[in-house]
Amino acid sequence: MSPDRVIVIVYTTLYRKGGRQFPIVANTLAREKKKSGFAGEIISRAVESKREVLEIFASLQSAGKLISEFHFVGHSGMYGPMFGTVAFPEQFSPYEWETMQIPFAPDASAYFHCCRSARWFAPYFARTFSVNAYGFFWYTTFSRSKTRYRYASATAATEVLYTIGCKGRKSHGLAASLVKFSGFMPAEEMKMFGPRPLTGDPSYNKVAALYDAAFTDITVRRDEWEWLNQHLPGTSELSVLDIGCGNGALLHALSERIKYGAGVDESEAILEKARQRNAAHKNLEFAKINSPALPFGDATFDVVISLMSFRYLDWDPLLTEVRRVLKPDGRFLIVDMVTVPVKRKEYAQLIRDKLRTMFGRRTNPDFKANLQKLVSHPDWKKMLEYNPIRSEHEMKWYLESRFAGQKMEILNLGWNARIVAFDSGPVAEGVEVKLSYP
Ligand SMILES: C[S@@+](CC[C@H](N)C(=O)[O-])C[C@H]1O[C@@H](n2cnc3c(N)ncnc32)[C@H](O)[C@@H]1O
Repeated sequence: MSPDRVIVIVYTTLYRKGGRQFPIVANTLAREKKKSGFAGEIISRAVESKREVLEIFASLQSAGKLISEFHFVGHSGMYGPMFGTVAFPEQFSPYEWETMQIPFAPDASAYFHCCRSARWFAPYFARTFSVNAYGFFWYTTFSRSKTRYRYASATAATEVLYTIGCKGRKSHGLAASLVKFSGFMPAEEMKMFGPRPLTGDPSYNKVAALYDAAFTDITVRRDEWEWLNQHLPGTSELSVLDIGCGNGALLHALSERIKYGAGVDESEAILEKARQRNAAHKNLEFAKINSPALPFGDATFDVVISLMSFRYLDWDPLLTEVRRVLKPDGRFLIVDMVTVPVKRKEYAQLIRDKLRTMFGRRTNPDFKANLQKLVSHPDWKKMLEYNPIRSEHEMKWYLESRFAGQKMEILNLGWNARIVAFDSGPVAEGVEVKLSYP
């Protein structure tokens, strides 16, 4: 083994009160790697921000060292490792990963010892960096054994600790908890993903026609439309940017009330639908984007909207751009779907929302039929594999940290998903996006 090879183990201790167990897991791993005969340097380090991760990669690169193995020990969101704190969470967005230089050795592997990392992130990482990437499909827990759940008290001194995957929902449920605590829960083996190319188009291109047929009229999104109307400033002089504008149905519905509207989207096929729909509206234009960069001058818009698209976007880099293109005191309005199981205390609202939705669909049979065609289509299911939605807390913690004092609202409840909305409030001129990394 060449001496310029390194194993890098990074762990967090602050996000979700990460606690004292993560360094023990990292040290256990480092000892085992040493014992396995790895001849190079083993770096085990706490990282609490994206900046600290980038600093490690940059210093290895300038020292001419190559990473044989990269390990992350901590918490994760659907789109990968979390840093920072709950009050100010940080996560590399896809664009940040894709533009990052990581000095991997040609035969390198990356291991993500965190919840649900095999669902989207490990395959994505493998593709992006051409390495083998490993993750857990299920939720992780601390254990004194690598192969089976063995209870480890959060306070007892222990030298050896692992992060293992345990089948089941996060709480594991009563039956699964009994199996787990009685020591019969086998640890989930980490799943390996090679650097395989995409099978299919991850964008909305293939589903553009089906999506356009279902959402011809944006007002079928009744709660979302009402909320946006309540939060849009009541002047006809507005200039509005719609990010992830899809088939342009929102700007179409707003076109008579605004001075200028621009829609941007990454899917050329769906933009074509937007251009066709709005050909007669000379105050609207549409542009394709392929990064968080927005093709507009500073202080162009009174309002920026992201309707059902924020989940897919590159949060931190995009916010820098949104602040740049907003006029002083402009607003960013976000409406989106997030996942979270309904709570018992929300049942009454759930029933009300379900009845309203059922009634709405009954009075609009075309929408109901076209929506069914869309969501049952294999191309839609394939697209969702590459574009999963976020958990409620991820979006809530993120937005409420970036726009202090503003709260996320719930517009409509489902069993496992819900529609939420967020109004940034007036974004003051010159307010810098708080970032801990370059
Ligand atoms: C669920 S659709 C919503 C479309 C429209 N806003 C609506 O409410 O009908 C999500 C849209 O986000 C777009 N999108 C996904 N990722 C994007 C990205 N990184 N940048 C820009 N648009 C993106 C998709 O192409 C798609 O048109």
